[in-house]
Amino acid sequence: QHISWDPAQAEKNGYAHFMLKEIYEQPRAVRDTLAGRLCNASGVIELPEINVSPETFQSAQRVLIASCGTSWHAGLAAKFLLERMARIPVEVDYASEFRYRDPLVSGSDIGLLISQSGETADTLAAQAEMIAKGSQTVAICNVVGAALTRKAVGTITTNAGPEIGVASTKAFTAQLAALLAFSLYAAQSRGTMTPEEIQALSQDLLKLPALMETALRSCQPVCESLAEIFANASDFLFLGRGIHYPIALEGALKLKEISYVHAEGYPAGEMKHGPNALVDETLPVVCVATKDIHDPTSVLKYEKTLSNIQEVTARGGRVIAIAVEGDNEIAKLVEHTIYVPQAREVLLPLIEVIPLQLLAYHIAVKRGCDVDQPRNLAKSVTVE
Ligand code: G6P
Repeated sequence: QHISWDPAQAEKNGYAHFMLKEIYEQPRAVRDTLAGRLCNASGVIELPEINVSPETFQSAQRVLIASCGTSWHAGLAAKFLLERMARIPVEVDYASEFRYRDPLVSGSDIGLLISQSGETADTLAAQAEMIAKGSQTVAICNVVGAALTRKAVGTITTNAGPEIGVASTKAFTAQLAALLAFSLYAAQSRGTMTPEEIQALSQDLLKLPALMETALRSCQPVCESLAEIFANASDFLFLGRGIHYPIALEGALKLKEISYVHAEGYPAGEMKHGPNALVDETLPVVCVATKDIHDPTSVLKYEKTLSNIQEVTARGGRVIAIAVEGDNEIAKLVEHTIYVPQAREVLLPLIEVIPLQLLAYHIAVKRGCDVDQPRNLAKSVTVE
């Protein structure tokens, strides 16, 4: 008996597209990226691969981040993580902008470059600028031995494995995991978190992949049916506040990249300064409205976001909310709710991005787009 099979199909492990396979690989990618980088038996975070001593973190004035595309969204989220956990000022730049404003860089700044490929021309140029101006650079990279890592004093390798889909998914959540480890190490070095707090967060990080599995299972059917409803919309807005704002940007980018639908990410509180004029009964507005119920600052942000949602619904906009399980109030305010598991605020981004990826994926499939190889885009942009 002759069985014909397509090798490319076989590599997809039965998934229709590499992107879908990679979305499902995220719990594993995060687990592998965190392995060996959380509290050891004596309750200490060790990150020898970055080659930055605790003393350097203590005397550092700033962390300067430069990256592109999805990696830039990871950088924006890292600003929230590092400033909150390690109380160090962070600047985040598009790598393509960094060197054109004669940036102020000094030896007391730590440069942090984030790149899946480690070969993005603009990110390499930003790193060169930082080094020329006297700062040490650390890379977060998914490819061992890539150009970016060769110039860095140290690298956190994200163990996402090869990413084939042009639109980044598992590399992004693996970057966030690496950035959490980096932030924990910075916090320990600067004494801004107690050993007990570091231990507790490490414990919660170990449980994160299981929460991501739950999100994948519960969001998949919901996102597929929402894609059916909204596949023909010509514009989308994505809203979020605080650390959820970069995730809203990432949700909009995923949709643009693979389904060619115009989408914008906005900080929820900025709606009244312009985008509210766009709202009518044809506009889907995806709102990341998760909260950490044990964290008063997170709940406060959530409540502000709820009023922003009401501003949209009052104008007829069709809100799809991403909310945590148990939040029954929000479902009364919006047209659709996608539930994800509850978690601490700093872990929510890795969970709440999953329904945004799945929504973009299913809309692209319904629109007949080439999900893995979108038109006009390249996986790695090695020209400036
Ligand atoms: C390209 C890819 C994006 C990626 C960006 C940055 O535009 O299509 O998915 O986010 O480059 O790539 P990097 O390898 O530096 O993370």
